[in-house]
Amino acid sequence: MIILILVVLAVILFHYVKRIYSFWERQNFPYDQNSKIPYGCLESVAKHKKSMGMTMYDVYLRSKERFLGVYLLFRPAILVRDVDLVRHVLAEDFASFHDRGIYVDEEKDPLSANIFSLEGKSWRDMRIKLAPLFTSGKLKAMFSTSEEVGDRMIAHLNTLIPEKGTMKIDLKEIFTTYAIDIIGSTIFGLDINSFENPTNKFRNIVRLSHKNTHPAAILGMLLYLFPSLVKFLFRKFGLKNPVALEMLKIVKDTIEYREKHNIVRKDMLQLLMQLKNTGKIEEDDNFDAKVTKKAGSFIENISIETITAQAFVFYIAGQESTASAAALTIFELAQYPDILKKVTEEVNRVLAENNGKITYETLQKMEYLELCINETLRKYPSLPLMNRICTQDYQIPGSDKIIKKGTNVLISLFGIHRDPEHFPDPEIYIPERFLPENSNYNPKAYMPFGEGPRHCIAQRMGKINSKLGVVKILQNFNIEIMPKQDIEIDNYSILIVPKGGVNVRLSKK
Ligand code: HEM
Ligand SMILES: *[C@@H]1O[C@H](CO)[C@@H](O)[C@H](O)[C@H]1NC(C)=O
Ligand SMILES: *[C@@H]1O[C@H](CO)[C@@H](O)[C@H](O)[C@H]1NC(C)=O
Repeated sequence: MIILILVVLAVILFHYVKRIYSFWERQNFPYDQNSKIPYGCLESVAKHKKSMGMTMYDVYLRSKERFLGVYLLFRPAILVRDVDLVRHVLAEDFASFHDRGIYVDEEKDPLSANIFSLEGKSWRDMRIKLAPLFTSGKLKAMFSTSEEVGDRMIAHLNTLIPEKGTMKIDLKEIFTTYAIDIIGSTIFGLDINSFENPTNKFRNIVRLSHKNTHPAAILGMLLYLFPSLVKFLFRKFGLKNPVALEMLKIVKDTIEYREKHNIVRKDMLQLLMQLKNTGKIEEDDNFDAKVTKKAGSFIENISIETITAQAFVFYIAGQESTASAAALTIFELAQYPDILKKVTEEVNRVLAENNGKITYETLQKMEYLELCINETLRKYPSLPLMNRICTQDYQIPGSDKIIKKGTNVLISLFGIHRDPEHFPDPEIYIPERFLPENSNYNPKAYMPFGEGPRHCIAQRMGKINSKLGVVKILQNFNIEIMPKQDIEIDNYSILIVPKGGVNVRLSKK
């Protein structure tokens, strides 16, 4: 009898799953024929043979459709391949795709309520509040801090590299420390020097969050594919992100210290304190947060948890991406002597015109460097896969198909950026393709910072700090030319993480 019941249950389950896996066929959508029960197109992710970004790149390559249905475990989703349709999703028809659909629990877990995950009106309000953090005025005011970190990086490299001969350096590691220190000081207001003191508290916490392991990859997938289940479990067992809790302690201590000693610094924490105390950040470049802390006033209540959530996501979104852009630029320059020569000459010329001083403005004058950074972000978009969730039924333009509310939408930025239809010879590093007179690419297909109202909020900051890092290296060291090669992309990470680092040989000038 029991056996019979089990058999019946198994048959029902089998048919249920089968039915899910015929969803796109029933909807009459083009779909990925390679999907198999139970992983759908995610088998290589589940078996940790590839990252999510590279797995969806494979799906992108297998098809020529404008859009196609896929299965992510038991969730039907849509991969959009056509760049016009991508732009509809990200920009023109934002009203139907304004959320990312990943785990967030504003009410019970405010540390999860960061701008990247927030939805609907909460996201919009936060975006408007945070925008003044990233104006060029604010970035200029913080530039000297980045420069000091750059100098510490050079000092550190000078202790590693011998007087004569070359040395192999993992630039990814070096630039990660650089980016972490910049974020530590400009966002968290901490005086850390991870080059001299690599085991400081901040850097250590950060190592916790940095586990590119299989369980971490699975958790990441759950947060994305089953956000309501995660919310239920987190609430049920009172779970919190341990790394965010550590961050909370640091932010609390720093804010208390500043408020007690009336310290005002030109950094983002000061601006976030301003947001906490006054409900908004000033548009001008006044960093003072001591003003108008009236008890029981009109001021909207923004908690220290909410502030921490934002600072934390800036850390997560900012450091890996900035470090990769800088490291991979040098990595490519080391493979193309002509390009290396051209950019070095430009750097030397512009710096000579400015008495060797690097400023925010001098970096803007380096036009060829701009082409190089753009080409790096084309070849290696930090976020290889972007996502949205459909927030209201959407009829696909030029088609009779309807994307239903609640469907995940995926965009393989890596696939688009390496598609020869949009970028001829996509594997080759050609900064000149971006020159207006060549314009050897499809501008609609280029979106390293995303597109539309939810594009990267810190685009300028990311670019400036990557450029500064590259210029500091070019100014101080010779880069040894190496044979053409590819990086190996880590199998676990959401971002493009080069396995084994980014190794280049440097020597002193
Ligand atoms: C070279 C460096 C960087 C690259 C290539 C990059 C790329 C991206 C991309 C592709 C997105 C998704 C856009 C979309 O979905 O349309 C994004 C979003 C975001 N990035 Fe960046 N990023 C960089 C640096 C930074 C830095 C330094 C920070 C913070 C300090 C940052 C904070 C964010 C945030 C908060 C979002 C979410 C915005 C929202 O949902 O409203 N990024 N970034
Ligand atoms: C990823 O997994 C595949 C298959 O197991 C393996 O061949 C490859 O070396 C791995 N790549 C990395 C970067 O670990
Ligand atoms: C580089 O890319 C950005 C978009 O990320 C674009 O706005 C800018 O115009 C590009 N620069 C050049 C010189 O093409």
